[in-house]
Amino acid sequence: MSGEFRSIEDARGRLAEVGYLADEPASLVSYLSGRLGKPVLVEGPAGVGKTELAKAVSRATGRKLIRLQCYEGLDEAKALYEWNYRKQLLRIQTEAADTGWQEVKDDIFGEEFMLARPLLSAITAEQPVVLLIDEIDKTDQEFEALLLEVLSDFQISIPEMGVVEARTRPLVLLTSNNSRELTEALKRRCLYLWLDYPDVERELEIVHLHAPELDQAVARKLVEVVHMVRSLDLKKPPSIAESIDWARALLLLGAEDVDQAVLERTMSIIVKHRTDLDLVAERVGVKLGDGVFGRQAG
Ligand SMILES: Nc1ncnc2c1ncn2[C@@H]1O[C@H](COP(=O)(O)OP(=O)(O)OP(=O)(O)O)[C@@H](O)[C@H]1O
Ligand SMILES: [Mg+2]
Repeated sequence: MSGEFRSIEDARGRLAEVGYLADEPASLVSYLSGRLGKPVLVEGPAGVGKTELAKAVSRATGRKLIRLQCYEGLDEAKALYEWNYRKQLLRIQTEAADTGWQEVKDDIFGEEFMLARPLLSAITAEQPVVLLIDEIDKTDQEFEALLLEVLSDFQISIPEMGVVEARTRPLVLLTSNNSRELTEALKRRCLYLWLDYPDVERELEIVHLHAPELDQAVARKLVEVVHMVRSLDLKKPPSIAESIDWARALLLLGAEDVDQAVLERTMSIIVKHRTDLDLVAERVGVKLGDGVFGRQAG
């Protein structure tokens, strides 16, 4: 089934069918975004499924995904459109000497000589798309201003051509890792979704989805250990992505339990800072060794 989500339940169900386990708030904004025609701003720590939500919405609705990966210094030419100078030059060179400049100019500033970048492609697509503007916090505020124009008017003005209006309305998802505060103006135009680390049960479901062969008891202990690790004051707590990696690694290694020895051997899959490694070995490793953890977990 594809097309717009018809209810919150429908959104949750269809996202699950394409491999994304959305909780209530995520299902809600996914549904509302389509109905209200508003972009969704998804914030949260690294690796909690922000980017994947946009991909899943694209799969579930059958809409093509257009992705704009943001970075410092991203500008109009890479986000909106760019003139294809090479092609323009070739056109000018092959022109007979007696053709007037005006004629050539009208020609080389036409659609054929333009390179459409993600934002322009998204609003001029024949079929509505999902537009993912990933890691918006990496750009500067000037870029945000440019984006606001596109997201509120759904049009782009090109000096040589005039205003290009949207053919179709994209579903827009923006993600941010919170590395800087976004402007109020942007937030006002968006629905907001804060994605956080899931609780044990949901994370277990997610891990199971990505590593179905892993024994359920091992998976549960793995997730519980990850949660315990997250509760320490680490430089970089492990994300869902790392839980999934760890599960796959334990599967390959044929681990039958997550005990102190297993943790010490494979810890670097979930913890990636020197000082964090020491802390985890000391605080979690010892607990696993004592057997205290196993008893607590039942
Ligand atoms: N609710 C979920 N259901 C299924 N898989 C999930 C879910 N949440 C996260 N994942 C999985 O976790 C991994 C990380 O997700 P993703 O790359 O979307 O994180 P992110 O929040 O965009 O991280 P970053 O901030 O580092 O870009 C992916 O493999 C994704 O499939
Ligand atoms: Mg991401």
